Amino acid sequence: MKNKVVLITGASSGIGYQTAKVLSRNGYKVYGGARRVEKIKPLKKFGVRPLKLDVTQSESVKNAINTIIAKEHSIYGLVNNAGYGSYGAIENVSISEAKKQMEVNVFGMIRIIKMVLPYMRKEHSGKIINISSIGGRVVSYFGGWYHASKYSVEALSDAIRMETKPFGIKVSLIEPGGIKTNWGHIAANHLIKSSQNTPYQEAALKAGKGMDKQYNSKMLSNPMVVSKRILKAMNSNHPRTRYVMGFGSKSGILLHSILPTPLFDFMMMHMS
Ligand SMILES: NC(=O)c1ccc[n+]([C@@H]2O[C@H](COP(=O)([O-])OP(=O)(O)OC[C@H]3O[C@@H](n4cnc5c(N)ncnc54)[C@H](OP(=O)(O)O)[C@@H]3O)[C@@H](O)[C@H]2O)c1
Repeated sequence: MKNKVVLITGASSGIGYQTAKVLSRNGYKVYGGARRVEKIKPLKKFGVRPLKLDVTQSESVKNAINTIIAKEHSIYGLVNNAGYGSYGAIENVSISEAKKQMEVNVFGMIRIIKMVLPYMRKEHSGKIINISSIGGRVVSYFGGWYHASKYSVEALSDAIRMETKPFGIKVSLIEPGGIKTNWGHIAANHLIKSSQNTPYQEAALKAGKGMDKQYNSKMLSNPMVVSKRILKAMNSNHPRTRYVMGFGSKSGILLHSILPTPLFDFMMMHMS
């Protein structure tokens, strides 16, 4: 297990930052990618190697993977973590913003997977760990495009797992609930901005303020709970297909499976 090479995207903040540190401390040779590469530099003391990476740019992805392969000749693990929440009423969110959401959360992930698969197939081993969300299992108020992206992450991960099984590659989904990072503030910001001077403004403002309050509170889980499960999946010879953890995740999935849809909708609309 020692010194296996792992790339984690979105390592400049939140879950990715914490996970880069945890994997590195547990013997992996970690490359951490992000656009704000300077934010990864403090992790150098833990052995993390910062890489400039924008998952929406093919050239940037190609450069990052080529850098790793030139130095290491192989790549064992990929943690697709980069992502954000483009919240807003479907009527209000522009098609270009919706495309951006899919470009980062879905095509960004696929772009990197396509680049690493030939190297993993060559070794007849590899782990792909995709950070989905409870939001890939249930839909929250005003989160339409974010959920569309995470439901896509779920579907594509299931497809890739079947396709790459004969090549010794294992694919797992991580489905966190509410984790205390900047994610919630970025999503709330998108929601409030996109609803300004629209018929959704009042409800969106209330929901956005509720999100901000929740992400400032102590009730959300620490990113460490996610990092520990990613480490477990990376270490395991038989990783699970799905790992569910963090605030509200298990209860959300359970309620979604037992409540009639109108009741679940009501609950989501009145949560903030
Ligand atoms: N926090 C939660 O409650 C929660 C719950 C479930 C799932 N998740 C998922 O967990 C993942 C990590 O989110 P987080 O909570 O840690 O949020 P975060 O602190 O905002 O971190 C997001 C990371 O994604 C990176 N990123 C965004 N756009 C990128 C791009 N185009 N190219 C490369 N990197 C990009 C950011 O880096 P740069 O801006 O520096 O590039 C940053 O490092 C996301 O996929 C999110 O959807 C979060």
